[in-house]
Amino acid sequence: MSKRSAERFEWRILGAGAPGRAAPESKLRLGVLISGSGSNLQAIIDAIEGGALPGVEIALVVSNNAGAFGIQRALKHRLPVIYLPWRKLPAGSVLQEMTPNEAQLAGLLSFFRVDLVVLAGWMRILSAPFLEHFANRVINIHPALLPREGRGETYTLSSGETIPALRGLHVVKMALDAGLKVTGSSVHYVIAEVDAGPVICQQEVPIEPGDTEESLHERLKEVEHRLIVEAIRQFRR
Ligand code: GRF
Repeated sequence: MSKRSAERFEWRILGAGAPGRAAPESKLRLGVLISGSGSNLQAIIDAIEGGALPGVEIALVVSNNAGAFGIQRALKHRLPVIYLPWRKLPAGSVLQEMTPNEAQLAGLLSFFRVDLVVLAGWMRILSAPFLEHFANRVINIHPALLPREGRGETYTLSSGETIPALRGLHVVKMALDAGLKVTGSSVHYVIAEVDAGPVICQQEVPIEPGDTEESLHERLKEVEHRLIVEAIRQFRR
């Protein structure tokens, strides 16, 4: 997509179009938000198509990045996909109401009757007003171990050892730089405080000698692909 065409539209549907009438027996409808490769989106698609997530469907995929490979994955599976250009807010902004982008996103999620919002590699912070609107209905995948209750500075491993809770961007590199022997991935509810919501499920992943950020992140993603399906299954119950 050229920059010019991306700028001309506020948002646009790239996939299968608007939702039809509600099915008589309603399924859990997911809105999956992505910014990049979309391997976690693929794991959800595969689980649904393979019968591992009965009663669940993807209502909508939203990307803030027109070049995200995840868009191609969604299109291949004939899912509605929306490219929504997103204006970054200055760090530390405290908002009394949703940003214009968030209001658009909230409108789209409602229009597509989304029950659960899955941040699957979504690289934009969502404000407190947006999260209040979707209270307890937004989950995120984080490539590090977070305390079960969400807040807190440390995580206690199954070995009993305590490691720092890594938050924000580049946490895979942070785990390597800190010389940790074990890291992991967590799926958690999203609250306004970044990477601090209650954990739904998580798994430890050993760091191997010679691991690079790429090799470790690949192994973490393999774990995430199972965790995100498990988290959605738990939400469905
Ligand atoms: C994952 O590692 C996730 O933990 C992080 O972003 C990455 C997204 O990967 N939040 P993908 O786009 O699903 O492949």
